[in-house]
Amino acid sequence: MSWWWLVSFLLLLSDAVNRNNFKTCDQSGFCKRLRGMEENKSGYYVNPETINQVNSSSVTFTVKHEMEKHAHTVILRVLKDSTIRLTAQEKEPVHPRYSPVDSLGEAPLQDQSCTLSKSGQTATVSFSSHKAVLNYNPLRIDVYAQETLVASVNARGLFHVETQLLKPEVNEEEHQEGEEGENEEDDLGISAEEIAKMDWEESFNSHHDSNPRGPRAISLDVTFTGFDKLYGLPEHADTLALKGTGSTDPYRLYNLDVFEYELDNPMALYGAIPYVHALSPKHSVGMMWLNAAETWVDINYSNEKSIVGRVLSSIMSSDEVSRIDTHFMSESGLLDLFLFLGPTPKDVTRQYSNVFGPSYLPPLFAISYHQCRWNYNDQKDVLGVDANFDKYDIPMDVIWLDIEHTDGKRYFSWDARKFPDSKEMLSTLAGKGRNMVTIIDPHIKVDKNWGLYKAGKDHSTCGIYVQNKDGGNFEGHCWPGTSSWIDYTSPCARQWWAEQFSYDNYQGSSPSLFTWNDMNEPSVFNGPEVSMPKDNLHAEQWEHRDVHNIYGHYMHKASSDGQVLRSQNTARPFVLSRAFFVGSHRIGPIWTGDNYASWEHLKMSIPMLLSLNVAGYTFVGADVGGFFGSPATELLVRWYQVGVLQPFLRAHAHIDTRRREPWLFGEENTALIRDALILRYQLLPYIYTQFYKASVDNSPIMRPLWYDHPSDTSLYSNQEEFLLGDSLLSSPVLESNEKSHLVTLPGPQVWYDYHSYTKYSPGTMHISVKLSSTPLFIKGGSILLTKMRVRRSSQLMESDPYTIIVALDNKGEAKGEAYVDDGKSFDYKNNKFSFQNLSFTGNKLSCRSGVKEAHYKSAGVERVVILGVDNSLSASHNGSPIISTFSKSSHSITLKKPNLVLSDEWDIEFS
Ligand code: NOJ
Repeated sequence: MSWWWLVSFLLLLSDAVNRNNFKTCDQSGFCKRLRGMEENKSGYYVNPETINQVNSSSVTFTVKHEMEKHAHTVILRVLKDSTIRLTAQEKEPVHPRYSPVDSLGEAPLQDQSCTLSKSGQTATVSFSSHKAVLNYNPLRIDVYAQETLVASVNARGLFHVETQLLKPEVNEEEHQEGEEGENEEDDLGISAEEIAKMDWEESFNSHHDSNPRGPRAISLDVTFTGFDKLYGLPEHADTLALKGTGSTDPYRLYNLDVFEYELDNPMALYGAIPYVHALSPKHSVGMMWLNAAETWVDINYSNEKSIVGRVLSSIMSSDEVSRIDTHFMSESGLLDLFLFLGPTPKDVTRQYSNVFGPSYLPPLFAISYHQCRWNYNDQKDVLGVDANFDKYDIPMDVIWLDIEHTDGKRYFSWDARKFPDSKEMLSTLAGKGRNMVTIIDPHIKVDKNWGLYKAGKDHSTCGIYVQNKDGGNFEGHCWPGTSSWIDYTSPCARQWWAEQFSYDNYQGSSPSLFTWNDMNEPSVFNGPEVSMPKDNLHAEQWEHRDVHNIYGHYMHKASSDGQVLRSQNTARPFVLSRAFFVGSHRIGPIWTGDNYASWEHLKMSIPMLLSLNVAGYTFVGADVGGFFGSPATELLVRWYQVGVLQPFLRAHAHIDTRRREPWLFGEENTALIRDALILRYQLLPYIYTQFYKASVDNSPIMRPLWYDHPSDTSLYSNQEEFLLGDSLLSSPVLESNEKSHLVTLPGPQVWYDYHSYTKYSPGTMHISVKLSSTPLFIKGGSILLTKMRVRRSSQLMESDPYTIIVALDNKGEAKGEAYVDDGKSFDYKNNKFSFQNLSFTGNKLSCRSGVKEAHYKSAGVERVVILGVDNSLSASHNGSPIISTFSKSSHSITLKKPNLVLSDEWDIEFS
């Protein structure tokens, strides 16, 4: 056994994160330097003569530093829909600075015209009803949304760009002479000796970072004024509302494979979206710090007066102004900031979506139930699991294979002994409308006799592998032993990777086989912080430190492109990734990595998934049951009940845990898990409609309660409940043996229990619960689309008829939407879909096409249930009566067989 296997094995035995593997801010040179900066001392000022409106939407100016000669060009660009982009670029950079432009959405950014006016010591850029006021000295930009100061850039003077320098050839003798002699200075006024003393090189544990291009970190403070809470910055296992970091490390964003991660902790995890959402009853503002390097973010909440406070109180005659100070620090890269001015959370979402694009529309199976385990051992095991889902009448769409299915961890291959006929297996599953997913990691076994490894090594036109600092292929350790890593940052390598998914290249695959990209932070077992050395080199000579956080995103993208390519652009892709970055929401889902089978981890899944949704990542989930450890039966049942209402639904387990397929816990518990999964399948048409909406404007699928109720500050810290789309509220049971469960139903609408139709007034209340309870509420005023005949897989439910649930509000009205398409192809892009607006007003239920040019013949409607009705009503369509039954106890009317097609336009009249 080699030493690194031993280390991995020993790690497996411990049961908590090994903090020593991961840096604190103090151990990260740039974080220590920038966090230690004194406020209001940064010395940057604007040269007023350089302020210039270069086109209708952009103003530029030069920023200089009191001490340094380097100058920066700042561009303030105003974008359509209350959005500002601020970039700062060194005028004569020694090395170019990386900008993750592929994070931006496909649609080009749209400009909004602005006007520039100057007066005294400030210049004002006005647009719509907003303005940005630029203070010359010290540099500060105050952003006003509709006359209200919402954000101040560099109000605390923490803007700093570490001037890039050329590393002096330090020759000890000359250095001595220099000291005694002329003491040469470079053109910045910094002596060679001072330059040589800087953090060019760094060591951490046994790892050395040669940092050949030297320190070049950037930092900026942004203060959000008049806000109560800040959210976002995934991925952290922490509270939904971000905490002040005065007595902890800053929140760290550096994609890492953290073994047994700790809860309530600002340590970095697998993915990074440097995005925050500031919230108050009157205003929401979003901010993206678009940078792919290691980033730390300090947050401070306060009510004290500051420069910002004083500015504000002079305008608003307010004494106490709550403000949230943030300080973003990145190791390298370009300063590129987006501010979304709201004013509502929904506006901020739309503004974000204009820039970073909406979410991807998954195939229907992808939002159904996934059964995974490390590992399903062989073909027989897979088919046995598949058969048991039928035997126990439990719906399931996808079976997953982890690393053990491969030939010696060579991805795109099968262990021929265990999987002698993968195509046969895939076709058996496909016969029931079921798919399969295999794992494909970014590390490629160094094996001179393996075609794929060799093809990468010998590629004639591009470097397929990431290089080490000396220019050879980087080699490190991961599952297969010594491995090299694909350089997904290279478009050429991405293209090559995508081609590996062709049916010819990926032998034994088929159209029903999809992909799981794991370990793509990237995880390198013997690397610094279990990742890649920062001085490794990528395409165009970017150092790994510049692109670290976007590496996994590019892998995700290349794999997804590969699936589209193999289908010749006809089938929607499905790739699950562990690492992610800004823009990954356009590619496919992610999950929250290696959680633990504990109540605490179950609870934490909610704020983690909500933070992701707030930061624009809608298709996300956590391993149901918990990855490490074996859940007690009650916990497993509860986890299913929570998971079925979260966007991505997959059960997964570590190789060392006991088997935990749904039928292994006794009949009663099998029934409870079955009920939970049936609920998911019933709701698929509603959930799919939410995914469609996310594919239009990135509306979150899983939302904090405050998202639809921003004026209710009592909801700001709620992270036990969540909204699924805009009409359902899940209040999951997260405690063992709970009998009386606290529910908060935000006003002003009434709510209906999904299961019993009991009507509730808004407020906080206790309801009694049993192990069979999945507290789920429908918002009064909404209309949901469901299918009640659940079958073995979502595909087999395709032509089943719909049940429409109409939940009336206090005025006796309701509205909703229904999206239907073929669930798998790109035909929807050619208007082959149906999007219906349903509304109930004036005793009439109407269904009207919401997108006139779209056409898709959907299944029929078999039932309409109206909730919140006090008297029996008779119903008819075009004069023909529809059979209806009134339930006095549940105040509902059920119409049977109205003989209508959802995708048609129709009315049902009630009298
Ligand atoms: C780490 C992943 O997080 C986990 O889900 C997977 O089972 C193992 N790698 C093995 O592939």
